[in-house]
Amino acid sequence: MDSINTQINLVTPWLWYLIRSAGILAFSFLWLALFLGLAIRNPILKKIIEPIYSVGFHCFLAFMAGFWVLVHIITLYLDKQFPLSLADIFIPWHVRVSFVDTSFLACGIIAFYLIIILIGSSYLRKYYKRWMWRIMHYLSPFAFIFVVIHGFFNGTDMKNIYISAIFISSSVILLALYASNLLFALVKKIKPAKRDDQVGN
Ligand code: HEM
Repeated sequence: MDSINTQINLVTPWLWYLIRSAGILAFSFLWLALFLGLAIRNPILKKIIEPIYSVGFHCFLAFMAGFWVLVHIITLYLDKQFPLSLADIFIPWHVRVSFVDTSFLACGIIAFYLIIILIGSSYLRKYYKRWMWRIMHYLSPFAFIFVVIHGFFNGTDMKNIYISAIFISSSVILLALYASNLLFALVKKIKPAKRDDQVGN
């Protein structure tokens, strides 16, 4: 019995499964946090999202994304299949191994730092001016784009057509939401200016 257990442990790469599931969970929580944050500012989606939205819930989802990213990198460090040093994990473009692409890994590391800034600045927002928090929040689309590039090109599960299709289509939805919010904000800025012009005429 004991030897069967030992054999299962030898042949089943549990840590590798955990690295991959934690990466996908981190992506999913990040997606949900960003979707809620964007939808509440979108004139069309606002009415649907308002009943379930609260700043606390939005922050909790972002915190969970951060938690799963930590599990993702801790298990990666512990997995002897991937001999990565702490410097490889925390310094972009430091890694020199053949099993992972240096630049796509660097995208994950940069996204990790951006997410720490986003989560940290949100939890500490009462200690400084709102415009500073806003500037830091503008980092979120960049963090998301880095995560998408990193996950898509590094991930083993992305070789599965269904998983990669869900990953890419959900990312496109979020990026389209970013673009539409930007458009609504621009229209809102231009409209009152136009009305002022007409009054002037
Ligand atoms: C915001 C931070 C991050 C997120 C959301 C994230 C998410 C993901 C996702 C979704 C995958 C694809 C998983 C799969 O296909 O099963 C992945 C793969 C991977 N990530 Fe990350 N990641 C992040 C940061 C990092 C960091 C900092 C490192 C280490 C330096 C890292 C190392 C890896 C590796 C080695 C893989 C390939 C694992 C495999 O599928 O075999 N990631 N990540």
